[in-house]
Amino acid sequence: MRIIKNLDELFLKVFMSNPCPMAISELSDGTYIEVNDALLDTLSYCKEEVIGKTPLELGIFLDSIDHKKMLQLLNAHGYFKSFETLVSCKNGNILNAVFNGEFITIEGRPYLLTVMNNITAKRHYEQEFIRLENLNLIGQMSAGISHEIRNPITTVRGFLQFFMRKSAYAHHQDYFELMISELDKANSIITNFLYITESDPLHSQYIVQDLKKLLERIQPLLATNALEKHNRLLYYISDTPVILINETEIRQMVFNLVQNGFDAMPMGGTLILKTFRQDRHVVLVVQDHGTGIDEMILDKLGTPFLTTKDNGTGLGLAVCYGIAHRHNAKINVTTSSHGTSFEVHFPIYQTDS
Ligand SMILES: Nc1ncnc2c1ncn2[C@@H]1O[C@H](COP(=O)(O)OP(=O)(O)OP(=O)(O)O)[C@@H](O)[C@H]1O
Ligand SMILES: [Mg+2]
Repeated sequence: MRIIKNLDELFLKVFMSNPCPMAISELSDGTYIEVNDALLDTLSYCKEEVIGKTPLELGIFLDSIDHKKMLQLLNAHGYFKSFETLVSCKNGNILNAVFNGEFITIEGRPYLLTVMNNITAKRHYEQEFIRLENLNLIGQMSAGISHEIRNPITTVRGFLQFFMRKSAYAHHQDYFELMISELDKANSIITNFLYITESDPLHSQYIVQDLKKLLERIQPLLATNALEKHNRLLYYISDTPVILINETEIRQMVFNLVQNGFDAMPMGGTLILKTFRQDRHVVLVVQDHGTGIDEMILDKLGTPFLTTKDNGTGLGLAVCYGIAHRHNAKINVTTSSHGTSFEVHFPIYQTDS
């Protein structure tokens, strides 16, 4: 570009070698005049694809109004600072980014200089931190109250069963059944709470295992579940290295993820369960072809009692995140209107020998 020859040598060095993505663009529509390597790397473009194009043409800002707002702020104040927005890369990745921008003059003409800060990892860790804080809180609460609640429930349930057999209450069988099933529901919420934390000693046994064998053992159960929902279940399970597993917990996690997949699909939908090795991890994928996760709750997934279902408790994913955390595993979610995929990355078990 001609303009590059007229840039001060020192500025040019700072601009080109800066680890922050930077761009010089036209004030009117943001047409890129010059960009640095960090910007090209971050957005996965090569220079020829970017120079002479506007962010709008490249679809860089997920919400195109944000780009307009930045230009408006620049015209009103002469600069903009810490403008946070979502940026779309050429490879489809979406990044959380913060922009600073101000006027610079080259050959007597004003241009816009923008500096971008990629804060995707920071946002991710913040969310993860909040999730773990929530789990911790639930852990402390549930350990304290679960016994106190379970004992009276057991007593009341016992008496209800005793009275429902009496001929005097024969006409009220339905009510007794309803009361017992409501108590069972309350009990299952407590059981789920205990799954979120590790306060139940049953859930603290971890042994080195083959994920394939575990998944094969629960296949008939999942297949019956699929049949009941008139959905199809496809198993693509590979031979993978052993991992440290608590079988009860992993079963629960798979059931919860599979159940959510079935819930999200209309009749006749296909749910895929697969495993493979990726670097030093074994990856378990539960992929549905449902309607996708509601955008409003996407960054809050795993928060206890978060549900969009009439009959959901909103504990299923909180349980999964708790289990993943105890297995040193990470859960990644991708979702669109064509379906959702939950990926659980387990670290491969390493022996010291
Ligand atoms: N595969 C999926 N497709 C679409 N939405 C999903 C999927 N998995 C989870 N969700 C959304 O996340 C919410 C929380 O899921 P979670 O499993 O924690 O609770 P739930 O399924 O609503 O209730 P339950 O406690 O019975 O599992 C769901 O209500 C749903 O909106
Ligand atoms: Mg669920």
